[in-house]
Amino acid sequence: MVKKKTCVFISGQGSNLKNLISRSRDNNFPIKISLIISNNKKARGLFYAKKYNIPYVLINTKFNNYENKILLNLRKHKISFICLAGYMKILSKFLIKNYKKKIINIHPSLLPKFKGLNTFSRIIKSKEIKAGCTVHFVNEKLDSGSKIIQKIFFVNSNYDEKILKLKTQKLEYKAYPEAIIRIFRYN
Ligand code: GAR
Repeated sequence: MVKKKTCVFISGQGSNLKNLISRSRDNNFPIKISLIISNNKKARGLFYAKKYNIPYVLINTKFNNYENKILLNLRKHKISFICLAGYMKILSKFLIKNYKKKIINIHPSLLPKFKGLNTFSRIIKSKEIKAGCTVHFVNEKLDSGSKIIQKIFFVNSNYDEKILKLKTQKLEYKAYPEAIIRIFRYN
């Protein structure tokens, strides 16, 4: 199998990145992680880039042309697929146009509910019965592209944000690799 050269974008912890790296080491998994991009030089996820010897690029989003730098690096590494994994910046139309239907994201809610930030506190506040995560294609609107996979669990009334996050992320580690397999199985 020829694996798709993939770039993972991160901003923080990188636990989804770690999980994708581990899954991608399986010969039958459709992607190879060839590049990691972070907009945060302190992102803990960069540890995995170093540990597994994966090239990484730090992007300073204060500069106007930072997306040009992203695109140049994607081209340099012949990247054909992009996974956003806790990347807390909105991609511009420019980048999305260049990678149409080739960028996916994971979000810690049952989209279209709870788009955006502070997801867990909003879920608790609105006393949701169900929570979960969604993997979706990225389009020009925030957390709005077509869904690839969604995983659900029931919320007990005694759950706090910490438990909700733990339960959600546990499902994310299943959902993200499954979504990637699903995309390439049908392509
Ligand atoms: C994940 O839970 C992901 O769903 C969320 O950030 C976390 C990153 O964790 N993404 C978003 O909220 C995007 N809107 P990680 O860095 O440990 O993978």
